[in-house]
Amino acid sequence: MEAFYDVVQRRRDVRGEFTGEPIPPDVLDRILGAAHAAPSVGLSQPWDFVLVEDGGTRAAFRDHVLAEREVFAETLNGERGGTFSKLKIEGILEASLGIVVTYDPSRGSPAVLGRHAIADAGLYSVCLAIQNLWLAATSEGLGVGWVSFYREPFLAELVGLPDGIRPVAWLCVGPVTQLATVPDLERHGWRRRRPLAEAIHREKYVVKPAETN
Ligand SMILES: Cc1cc2nc3c(=O)[nH]c(=O)nc-3n(C[C@H](O)[C@H](O)[C@H](O)COP(=O)(O)O)c2cc1C
Repeated sequence: MEAFYDVVQRRRDVRGEFTGEPIPPDVLDRILGAAHAAPSVGLSQPWDFVLVEDGGTRAAFRDHVLAEREVFAETLNGERGGTFSKLKIEGILEASLGIVVTYDPSRGSPAVLGRHAIADAGLYSVCLAIQNLWLAATSEGLGVGWVSFYREPFLAELVGLPDGIRPVAWLCVGPVTQLATVPDLERHGWRRRRPLAEAIHREKYVVKPAETN
């Protein structure tokens, strides 16, 4: 039990600490197996994993991500812009492997048990697979960094997704020099973690004082 909570607490989003060393094949199999063991609405298992090693594909994705970084930066005021400019938001080239995790809403349809009223339940399932992979990778001594600075059509075309299949994440995965104890965004003054007590409501949701960054 302790080992499990230790992994949960040690998991970090990694951007700058990838070594680029290869991932042993048995380790890759285990973390993908963990992802594939996730719960899913109606047992739809709507995920797939596109493993991207090719340098050209990764460079093209990184260029796109850096352009999207600029799009976001332009929405920020002076002080936030200054803080953001110091943040690294991806480790696409430094990581050993890119894993594009996709969502196929048609899998198991038309009658996906449990999704008739909440279409997003399919996406929730994919996120659970990602979290399983993230925790398994942490327990294996690997780092994972989730990159979401992209437009879906760009990434879908880059890795050849058929119509209707959505990319949910580009994960940078690989051995790391270390896992930081504090999230990068907190370390660089972008945002702090909330105390657990603030997130717990009893019986009814109580609106709490507006958050500051
Ligand atoms: C859906 C999702 C998208 C994210 N996208 C990015 C991203 O594009 N770039 C990045 O640097 N981190 C990204 N992150 C990582 C978060 O910034 C990180 O999880 C958060 O700051 C908490 O840090 P921790 O994961 O180390 O605890 C993403 C995380 C999630 C769950």
